[in-house]
Amino acid sequence: MSKQLIVLITGANRGLGLALTRAYLERGDRVVATCRHLAKATELHQLKQTYRDDLLVLRADVGLGRSVAAAAEDAALHLPRLDVLINNAGVAPGKPEQPLETLELALVRDALQTNSLGPLRTVRAFLPLLRKSQQPRVVNVSSGAGSLSNPAIETPNYAYCGSKALLNMFTRIMAREFRAQSVCIVAMTPGWVRTDMGGTDAELDAPTVAGEMLDSIDHLTMEQTSLFLDRYGKISEYAW
Ligand SMILES: NC(=O)c1ccc[n+]([C@@H]2O[C@H](COP(=O)([O-])OP(=O)(O)OC[C@H]3O[C@@H](n4cnc5c(N)ncnc54)[C@H](OP(=O)(O)O)[C@@H]3O)[C@@H](O)[C@H]2O)c1
Repeated sequence: MSKQLIVLITGANRGLGLALTRAYLERGDRVVATCRHLAKATELHQLKQTYRDDLLVLRADVGLGRSVAAAAEDAALHLPRLDVLINNAGVAPGKPEQPLETLELALVRDALQTNSLGPLRTVRAFLPLLRKSQQPRVVNVSSGAGSLSNPAIETPNYAYCGSKALLNMFTRIMAREFRAQSVCIVAMTPGWVRTDMGGTDAELDAPTVAGEMLDSIDHLTMEQTSLFLDRYGKISEYAW
């Protein structure tokens, strides 16, 4: 890719979002890195010292419509367009195997707000900028845990698995709606990654996964819109 891309990544202050931010900046692209607490974005502020012109750090709590809308208004003042939107922000509240009888439904609501509705809010708010790109792409960071075709459900969790399954369905519906406008929208599972969410036993490191995802996103075409892909850009083994 020779053209400098303009990329927005939600939940960019740590974990996979931070690794994706680094990978795009190191490649020479421009990044809008959003996070819900600017005061907790130490690494992003450090990166800003190096990438003064190419990194814009904005506050956006994807669980709140007004916060995402404010970020989009701010971004529109600085950016001519948006080429790639990565809906990365995510939460995994509660414990796996939580019995229904003691399940706190508030945790499920929290997961739906962030993991399922967050991407809808973000795509909606940034559509005007995406439409200015010649090749707009939206990547919803999903998980095999949200797959209905995975018979194992290794770590059943009403909040996390349910919210990612809904994100997969929202990906399909958005992809269908925006196909005619040539906006490519996919769900992508990163694999099991060593982050606060993935834990220390996870098999993959975030910088490697970020590089693999970046490469796959570079090669996305409209033929792939609506698909659930792995980090290599292949149809996920879990399909949906
Ligand atoms: N790690 C894995 O093994 C794995 C596997 C499959 C899928 N995923 C998915 O990959 C994505 C990144 O996960 P990760 O492993 O990097 O997790 P992580 O280390 O826990 O980081 C999550 C990020 O999301 C942000 N976030 C949470 N709620 C937010 C909100 N309402 N608004 C804005 N930002 C919010 C967090 O910000 P704060 O610092 O403010 O909390 C943090 O930056 C998630 O969507 C996750 O479901 C991860």
